Amino acid sequence: MNVRILGTAAGGGLPQWNCACATCTSARTGTGRTQDCLAISAGDGWYLLNASPDIRTQILRTDALTPGPGLRETPLRGVLLTSGELDHTLGLVALREAEQLVVYATPTVLEALPWRSLMEPYGRFDWSPVPAKLGTLAIETVPVSAKPPKYASGEADDWAVAYRISDGADVLVYAPCLPSWSDAFAATLEGASWVLLDGSFYRDDELERRTGVARTARQMGHLPIAESLPHRTAYPTTRWIYTHLNNTNPALDPASSEHLALLAADAELAEEDARLGSVG
Ligand code: MLT
Ligand code: MN
Ligand code: ZN
Repeated sequence: MNVRILGTAAGGGLPQWNCACATCTSARTGTGRTQDCLAISAGDGWYLLNASPDIRTQILRTDALTPGPGLRETPLRGVLLTSGELDHTLGLVALREAEQLVVYATPTVLEALPWRSLMEPYGRFDWSPVPAKLGTLAIETVPVSAKPPKYASGEADDWAVAYRISDGADVLVYAPCLPSWSDAFAATLEGASWVLLDGSFYRDDELERRTGVARTARQMGHLPIAESLPHRTAYPTTRWIYTHLNNTNPALDPASSEHLALLAADAELAEEDARLGSVG
């Protein structure tokens, strides 16, 4: 399987447009991060995992997603959503000129997406529950969160899922939103080649300490790295990569003790525009 890490930041990206914190300030002159999104190959083409608000920039810089040779031919076949959150779905609107694109999500997310009806007159979309097979890929979803996005209401066990995707050789687990460490989630990691894991926050009280906003990481639906990292040792052959990085996360600074702790545990932060799997 080929995986392209298209974006690695939490909602808002890095820098966030209206933030003057030290991390965003240094990202303004150094290297920033676009919002969390992946592309994976499935033999017959490519699928996006989430559609970030930065998707246009991300597609334009990714050679594997270049259109052609036909005038409107694109290798992009569809989009698999982990949730209905804006930072994972607003990019759909930027893909509205599609001549044929399938959007896969859970029934609850498919029902709730406000821009589904908005997009219908613009392109050709199919909206579908997540299938068990897609091209050469076997797909499993694991429900991880019952919390609706802010624009919706009502709990449902499939508001957010993690994906386990296998092509027979490699297994990718993608969980950019993981509120807690469940047995079901732990089971999806068995034999995984790579896990791209919720790295929004390093500590539970980080948001309050850095911005004064009195919400914990767990209340926001994100298990902090400090609480997922101890599980790393149970999966020694899995490459352990944190993504969906929020601008408050101290591990973003390569010189920080948090970053060094992560490296010492044989984990890493996802890099923009990086490849996993056979290079092609
Ligand atoms: C999240 O990851 O918790 C959401 O993206 C939050 C948001 O969009 O405000
Ligand atoms: Mn998010
Ligand atoms: Zn900031």
